[in-house]
Amino acid sequence: MSRWAQLDRGDADDAAAGYRRRFERLAEAGVHVHGEADRCATLTPPGSRVLDAGCGTGRVAIELDRRGYQVVGVDLDAGMLAQARALAPHLSWVQADLATFDAAALDQAGLQVSGFDLVVAAGNVVPLAAAGTEARVVARLAAALRPGGRLIAGFGLDAAHLPLPQAPFGLAEYDAWCAAAGLELAERSATWDGEPFAGGGYAVSVHRRWG
Ligand SMILES: C[S@@+](CC[C@H](N)C(=O)[O-])C[C@H]1O[C@@H](n2cnc3c(N)ncnc32)[C@H](O)[C@@H]1O
Repeated sequence: MSRWAQLDRGDADDAAAGYRRRFERLAEAGVHVHGEADRCATLTPPGSRVLDAGCGTGRVAIELDRRGYQVVGVDLDAGMLAQARALAPHLSWVQADLATFDAAALDQAGLQVSGFDLVVAAGNVVPLAAAGTEARVVARLAAALRPGGRLIAGFGLDAAHLPLPQAPFGLAEYDAWCAAAGLELAERSATWDGEPFAGGGYAVSVHRRWG
């Protein structure tokens, strides 16, 4: 079971609706809630194929679709996906475990989108996968990319930046999983805005598939 599913969030459907509402309220209050989409847009132009991995309620995918990207959202949590489907029924929302996700199957299902230009994993997706599956998640995300495509992932490195009592892994482990999956580090920042990373409790990493 994913660490996300193990969190004490009460009723899963209520929690998913609450997650969606939290960001809607922030947006209504004038907070800019699309830093992840902004950063994605610096990496690949509109029209590119983007996989929102661990899309949750579709926050990032929906904004990228609005900006002209071809997006697919994948998540394991049915309640979160139900919110995404309600918000953007015209988009492709796939329920799957990222540890076994096969992007090629999307083509067989008629979506013709595998060989993604960019995979985005926003909001602690990798640390919230099931314990022991993180390397497989990274490998499946790498396999979803075209050669030269990029994986961008933002996650906490300490309890202050995670909904977990401690960080399940650090950047050295994450980079090793990426390297084993054929990904090289291209950029690392402290925030989605691109502030330089100086060893803090949160990192946004961009890895490029070399082959
Ligand atoms: C904090 S939410 C982030 C949602 C969204 N990316 C965002 O930024 O709003 C983490 C999401 O990761 C998903 N997740 C965790 N492990 C997963 C896995 N193995 N396969 C698919 N989704 C997973 C959870 O279901 C959850 O929706």
